[in-house]
Amino acid sequence: MVHVMNPYSGNPIEESEDICLRPMKPDDLDQVLDIEERSYVDPWLREHFEYELLVSSISKMMVLEIHHEVIAYVGLWLLAPEIHITNITVDPEYRYRGLGSRLMEYVINLAYELRIKQVTLEVRHNNMAALALYRKFGFEVRGMRKNYYASERAHALIMSRTVR
Ligand SMILES: CC(C)(COP(=O)(O)OP(=O)(O)OC[C@H]1O[C@@H](n2cnc3c(N)ncnc32)[C@H](O)[C@@H]1OP(=O)(O)O)[C@@H](O)C(=O)NCCC(=O)NCCS
Repeated sequence: MVHVMNPYSGNPIEESEDICLRPMKPDDLDQVLDIEERSYVDPWLREHFEYELLVSSISKMMVLEIHHEVIAYVGLWLLAPEIHITNITVDPEYRYRGLGSRLMEYVINLAYELRIKQVTLEVRHNNMAALALYRKFGFEVRGMRKNYYASERAHALIMSRTVR
């Protein structure tokens, strides 16, 4: 079990503090977009989320709520025998407190449940927080797309983790 810390008290958030991980709904998008826009130089737009939620048949989007407020979310493509993580984001005010790990724990458990062999993702080579999260969960670099994010002078690393 990952320890999730309360950003205000610095104490572990107990299960009784009403943490909930549930599927994303269109009604969540205002809160999700607010976090998205504060998190990325090139945030997903409402249309991206709507496509994943309402059109795509391979997409699974989950939100993590604390006291009924959306704090973090993760997007997946279920491409058996692979899960691809399309988006994993924690509200800037709540980072470094175990919530990204909580989302990743969910993804890995889902992979076991669905007998998925591999979880993959792409990350900018200089995204230290994301790299720390992925390495913690056993992801390894399998390839690189050089200058993929040219305007940011960043390469894309392709990472994956085998699930047995
Ligand atoms: C990446 C992200 C989801 C991590 O979420 P988080 O809730 O801060 O992650 P956690 O608190 O669970 O931390 C996971 C591990 O990474 C480490 N870590 C987190 N942020 C870090 C940072 N800025 N620098 C170095 N290590 C970091 C933590 O120490 C922890 O390791 P530990 O348990 O061994 O101490 C969050 O930083 C984020 O939303 N970033 C912006 C969006 C983004 O870049 N998403 C990824 C796109 S590929």
